[in-house]
Amino acid sequence: MKFTITTKSLHDLTTEALVIFGGEEQPNLLEKNLDKIFGGHIGRLRKSQDFSGEAGKTRLILRDGKLPRVLLVGTGKNSEITLEKIREAASTAVLELKKLPIKTASVLLPKFGKFRPAEMAQAVVEVAILQNYEFPYYKKPEAKKVTLENLELVAPAKAQLKSVQKGAAVGQIIGTVVTEIRDLGNHPANKATPTHLAEHAQTIARSAKNIRVTVLHRADIEKEKMGALLAVAQGSDEEPKFIILEYRHSKKAPTVVLVGKGITFDSGGISIKPAEKMEEMKFDMAGAATVMGIVKIAAELKLPFNITGLLPTTENLPSGKALKPGDIIRSRSGKTIEVVNTDAEGRLILCDALDYAKKYHPDLVIDFATLTGAIVAALGEELIGAFTNHKAYFQRLQAAAEATGEKLWPMPLEKSYEEMIKSDFADLRNIGTTRYGDSIHAANFLKQFVDYPWIHLDIAGVAWTTREKPYRPKGATGTGVRLAVKFLQNFKK
Ligand code: BES
Ligand code: ZN
Ligand code: ZN
Repeated sequence: MKFTITTKSLHDLTTEALVIFGGEEQPNLLEKNLDKIFGGHIGRLRKSQDFSGEAGKTRLILRDGKLPRVLLVGTGKNSEITLEKIREAASTAVLELKKLPIKTASVLLPKFGKFRPAEMAQAVVEVAILQNYEFPYYKKPEAKKVTLENLELVAPAKAQLKSVQKGAAVGQIIGTVVTEIRDLGNHPANKATPTHLAEHAQTIARSAKNIRVTVLHRADIEKEKMGALLAVAQGSDEEPKFIILEYRHSKKAPTVVLVGKGITFDSGGISIKPAEKMEEMKFDMAGAATVMGIVKIAAELKLPFNITGLLPTTENLPSGKALKPGDIIRSRSGKTIEVVNTDAEGRLILCDALDYAKKYHPDLVIDFATLTGAIVAALGEELIGAFTNHKAYFQRLQAAAEATGEKLWPMPLEKSYEEMIKSDFADLRNIGTTRYGDSIHAANFLKQFVDYPWIHLDIAGVAWTTREKPYRPKGATGTGVRLAVKFLQNFKK
């Protein structure tokens, strides 16, 4: 998708459609000007309530049968406007344009109170890319839907041209990378293997010169004594990979380590899952994909930090060689673990990565993992479950959640529950003695491997969607990337 930024006057726009946002109150100046060109047509639609500015409502009009058309898109009450409302309106607009179908359009960026033109441009560009997203790889070429090809952003005035350009450029980087991350989640497990993820990481490093990639193969993982990762991998014929992506800004810059769960297929192992919906467990590598995306964007935006992504990746399958309930394994940290349930494999591969993270003396570690079904039961599909040992960083993450619409909810690292992950035979057991509160047991388990400021994000609910949502089609959503990038853009030690 191509973007152009202009300050052309309304008369000079030549695309197939002009998109204009309008709230429920007073029409903004742009709308008034457009109304003049359209001989009062928009004003009449307003009067008759055919277009009220209600969020999610649209109206398409043609001027004497002449192009361009105008697509009016409601943004709701002006007093309640947020960037997310603007994103949702932009998403509605793109859906309508695709339906027509239309390949070129101009979006008029209005002045919306507190939002800077750069933020507006970034939001519109991100949404345009994310709403335009298709996953065509396994269908006949004829099945490919018409997509929007050119979007022109019309800056409110010359003075804002530069900042609109900047915002749009950032939006384009973020939107594009999120679509790549979605692709990784949507590719089936026979394509998106640990080896494929490692190759993807190498592709990222080839395109971004300031990223270095290291892939640890089985022998290297053995040398590192990552016994928990190896234990999960032992049931599968696919080779496990421990992928390290390093983006270096400068010696003095703060160090952030990102860890991502990379189970490319989670059958549950010997504690096998029911058949229903098991096919969705190809997205159990969403955390790893998310981290790859964040590192790539951070490098492209040259954020002033040293950021390392650590991705333990493997399949979780049953076989004659597979890990069995009751097996006791030794993790990289030296702590032994009784594997009571082989389906609680995410915390196993993560504990070795969290231990490895200590090498970097990080100022902060954030892990992203589709870790527990329990978080989906507790918080549903819209909220990330967030656990932390560092309140101040967490508050800043919450601010980023508000700004990006990628919402999270604070969850407790309940100390008294730690009793329930103690084993009679080993240092730890990988599930609690009760199934209730499993998201907390999982987080408490990870906490045993952490000695630095840390945020654990359980993205099991948000990483995948079975119904269409604004700018998130069915399948992998890429949720978490925009959140983390926003957080990092404002990060201070
Ligand atoms: N990958 C799953 C968690 C999951 C479930 C993600 C549903 C997305 C949707 C994880 O490895 C798992 O299987 N967890 C078990 C833990 C249980 C055995 C204690 C679960 O949640 O059922
Ligand atoms: Zn599992
Ligand atoms: Zn899993």
